[in-house]
Amino acid sequence: MAVLKKIRSRLFSSNAGEAPAGIPAEDARGILSAASPASRYDIRPLTVAQLDECWRLDQRCFIDGEAYSRETFEYLLTSSESVSYRAVLTEGAMVGFIVGLIEPDLTGHITTLGVAPEHRRQRIAERMLLKAEDGFRRRRVRVARLEVRSINTGAQELYIKLGYAVTQRLPRYYSNGGDGLMMTKSIS
Ligand SMILES: CC(C)(COP(=O)(O)OP(=O)(O)OC[C@H]1O[C@@H](n2cnc3c(N)ncnc32)[C@H](O)[C@@H]1OP(=O)(O)O)[C@@H](O)C(=O)NCCC(=O)NCCS
Repeated sequence: MAVLKKIRSRLFSSNAGEAPAGIPAEDARGILSAASPASRYDIRPLTVAQLDECWRLDQRCFIDGEAYSRETFEYLLTSSESVSYRAVLTEGAMVGFIVGLIEPDLTGHITTLGVAPEHRRQRIAERMLLKAEDGFRRRRVRVARLEVRSINTGAQELYIKLGYAVTQRLPRYYSNGGDGLMMTKSIS
């Protein structure tokens, strides 16, 4: 996902003092299965109150130079179109995040997703992605989309597992010249 050109352009054309993130009230807590190892983790709304913690975790997740700036996170998490969640340990530390944005064309754009390296392969990303799709659906979004590096086959496996399909190749999408893939999913 990395530093999206579109977000950059929106960031630099946006006004200061945006509305607070529009997280639906019913998203107070994630639903956990007590029998699952995933019960160590809770899925909660991600807001600008967690800006610094999220930014620091993002830098641990994206070590390829494509981590978002603090300003980009601030823009995303203060947008009224934000549909964003975090995974936390029982004591409250953040171990994962997903940032979604409802675009003007009413597609739900997953702009970034990351899980701390030491907590991977425990279905945290899967749960956060499904939660974001639910959040989109509640706001009348019918299509979710995201971009992923063409060489990031692990993330692509996750998206394919959850029903996303490649709809477009994005040549030199990333700042280091790497290609991207756009993947979309009908969530109606
Ligand atoms: C991609 C990422 C978010 C996945 O997080 P995660 O919590 O480990 O993923 P999950 O445990 O929910 O994975 C669910 C399923 O997706 C697939 N999957 C996830 N990561 C995979 C990997 N590295 N290789 C192959 N399949 C993978 C598997 O099918 C997995 O199920 P399984 O463990 O039962 O086989 C995480 O590796 C990460 O933060 N990577 C760095 C940042 C990044 O690349 N973000 C995505 C940018 S588009």
